[in-house]
Formats: sequence, C-alpha cells, structure tokens
Amino acid sequence: MRILVTGGAGYIGSHTLVELLAAGHEAHVVDTFANSSPEALARVRQLANRDFGFTRADIRDGEAMARVARDFAPEAVAHFAGLKAVGESVGKPLAYFDVNVGGTVALLQALQAEGCRRFVFSSSATVYGDPDYLPIDEAHPRRTTNPYGRTKLQIEGILEDLAVADPAWSIALLRYFNPVGAHASGRIGEDPEGIPNNLMPYVTQVATGRRERLIVHGDDYDTPDGTGVRDFIHVVDLARAHVAAAEWTGRGAGCEAFNLGTGRGASVLELVAAFRAASGQAIPVTVGPRRAGDIAASWADPARAARVLGWRAELGVAEMCASAWGWAARNPAGYAGPERNPD
Ligand code: NAD
Ligand code: WQD
Repeated sequence: MRILVTGGAGYIGSHTLVELLAAGHEAHVVDTFANSSPEALARVRQLANRDFGFTRADIRDGEAMARVARDFAPEAVAHFAGLKAVGESVGKPLAYFDVNVGGTVALLQALQAEGCRRFVFSSSATVYGDPDYLPIDEAHPRRTTNPYGRTKLQIEGILEDLAVADPAWSIALLRYFNPVGAHASGRIGEDPEGIPNNLMPYVTQVATGRRERLIVHGDDYDTPDGTGVRDFIHVVDLARAHVAAAEWTGRGAGCEAFNLGTGRGASVLELVAAFRAASGQAIPVTVGPRRAGDIAASWADPARAARVLGWRAELGVAEMCASAWGWAARNPAGYAGPERNPD
C-alpha cells in the first residue's frame, strides 16, 4: 500500500519507515527537519535497501500538502509530524496549537480533497493525565495538564468528529506509552537537541560521557522502590504497531483508540539497572526532588491492540537498553557527529 509518513525523519517515524518498507509498502515522507536530520532518512534507505519519496514541506502548508496528496495519492497516512516537548509547550502554547492542531487540520483538508480517508495518528498516554486506575485501558477518562497534551486531546476530538461527519474515514488513534530504544543495527535512534527531557536519552548521554550523572526525579512516590514507574515500549515494537494499524484502516471504520504499551511497568531505578547490565557502563545517579507535573505510575492495558490489530509488544527492557546503548555507542554525537563503526 502507498503510505504517506509525516515526520518520517523523526525518532518514531524513521523506525516506522524501516518496518513499512520491510513489509513491502511504498512510502513518501514529509518533514521540515525541524527536529531531525536528513541523515536519518539516508540511513533508513540503507537499512531498508529500498527507496521512498520525500518532500521537504511543513504540514501547515495546505498547498504543499494538497500537492503531495495529489502526486503520491496515498492510500493511508501515518501522521507523526509535530512538536512534542511538554515543558516547552507550557512556555510556547501558540506554537504547539499552530503546528500540532493547525498542521493536522491542514493535512486532513488536503487528504479529504484528494479522497484519502485512512489515517493513523500519533497520540499519547498523556491524554490519560494522572490515572484513576491501572492498567490504563482505552475507556479511561481523558484529561491533561499541559498544552502539549491538550493538542493531543484536541486532535483526537477533531478526528472523532471527522469520522462522525464522514463514515468513509478510518482512523486509528495510537496512544503511545513511553517509547525507548533503537533499531538493532544501532544506525538510527533518538537524537534530542540540547539537554534531554526524557529518561532514556539522558541515561545514554551519561553512558557516553556527555552528562556526568542522572538526576532521579524523586524516590518518594508510592511505588515499590519510590521512583516513577512507566510502561517503556521498544520503538521497533511501536513501529510494527503502525504497520498493523495502517493495514487495519483498510478493514476498520470510524475512529478507534489503541493503547501501545507492553502492559508492564518498570521503575526509573529498574531501567537504570537494566541499562547498566546491557552496557557495562556505571551510570552514576543522584536522587533529586520530584519533577513538576510527573505522575507516580502509568502502564497500559494493551489487550485491545492485540485483539483488533493483532499486534503485541515482543521486546523487553533488556532489548530496549541494549539497543539504546548500541545506537549511542555508535553515534555518541547523534546524527551530527561521525558514525563509529564497531563492525
Ligand atoms: P520527533 O520530534 O523525533 O519527530 C517529529 C518529526 O516531525 C521531526 O522529524 C520533525 O522535524 C517533524 N516536524 C515537526 N514539525 C513539523 C512540521 N510543521 N511540518 C513537517 N514536519 C514537522 O518526535 P517523535 O518522538 O518521533 O514523535 C513522533 C510523534 O509521536 C509526535 O507527534 C509525538 O507527539 C508523538 N509521541 C511521541 C512520544 C515520545 O515519547 N517520543 C510519546 C507519545 C507520542
Ligand atoms: C520517565 C520517568 C521521570 C528524566 C513524557 C511525556 C509524555 C510522553 C513520553 C509524548 C519519570 C524520570 C526522567 C530524568 C528522571 N511524550 N526521569 N530523570 O514524563 O513519563 O513522559 O514522555 O507524548 O507525554 O510527558 O517520560 O522519560 O520524561 O520520564 O528521573 O532526567 O523518568 O521523573 O518518572 P514521562 P520521561
């Protein structure tokens, strides 16, 4: 099938491209490289040993989206493009509403005009806020505490309204839990700019000596070891879920939500211990205060994705850490620096 991948040069998009191409699909990427590098796409081409189309364009540019939709004539879209830093969204809410909400509306208008009505959206477990119960299923009430999360809630609402207005739409809302890890080759991975906000990229930067130590944001939560518990999911499992969801949009109808997680929680200290074991690196840690806005624990009930999409996560925390280390050791400065070739 022909799949348009917005944000395909990004962390999750690039891994998804590899899996889509491996499954025999034809892809076309739209990206501005606002938070990514052309090098990621070059490496995907090498890894997949297959080519795909690319248009450097902003999803907010309705004319450019209409051109891409006309020329490539996608049968389905995987929509990753957007801004994703929770903290930044608090200071720049308009940028987040403009890119995430405005960009998605511009994209949907172009698709609607060209007759493409199969859509896979990158949503987030952030739409559940501080959970009322665990594990979190898709019926859990939705709420949020920051502008980034509000963009995800608003986009989910827009997509639900669209499916009511026109039943020809088939839409999968994929609510990711905590994506980590990298492709087994170590050639593509997560490459955040500046000081990482998220746990795994921070840990890998400590491992490569770019940061001195990890600050654990609080060890007085009501969890077994007092540190936060999350449902970490390997990015390659997540990528494969997109292949399953894109294929499902050909069978399904309406707008349906799916949790993408393993169904198991691991604490911050458990993840650090697994990373030490996988990498052989020391990873010094210091316990600091809680981070504002953090929740104690979150993990998914992923049963619906298994039942409806036929997808379940297969990789565990050991593989997540080994692959994150494989990427970091080979690319200590990310895509900007030289690639070390230990093979
Ligand atoms: P990313 O920043 O690595 O990828 C996003 C891509 O979109 C980048 O390549 C960026 O250059 C591109 N982009 C940004 N603005 C654009 C625009 N206006 N037009 C075209 N391209 C644009 O992020 P990611 O981690 O791969 O996340 C992908 C999606 O998944 C995002 O929508 C994010 O909100 C969502 N998500 C991510 C996580 C996570 O922890 N990484 C969790 C839940 C949901
Ligand atoms: C995980 C745990 C931290 C960094 C965020 C977004 C969410 C989603 C995924 C997009 C927490 C602890 C972290 C550090 C630490 N993104 N931690 N020291 O907060 O669960 O989710 O990313 O949709 O919306 O909010 O992920 O990786 O930031 O934190 O102790 O330096 O690691 O306190 O317990 P989070 P995270």
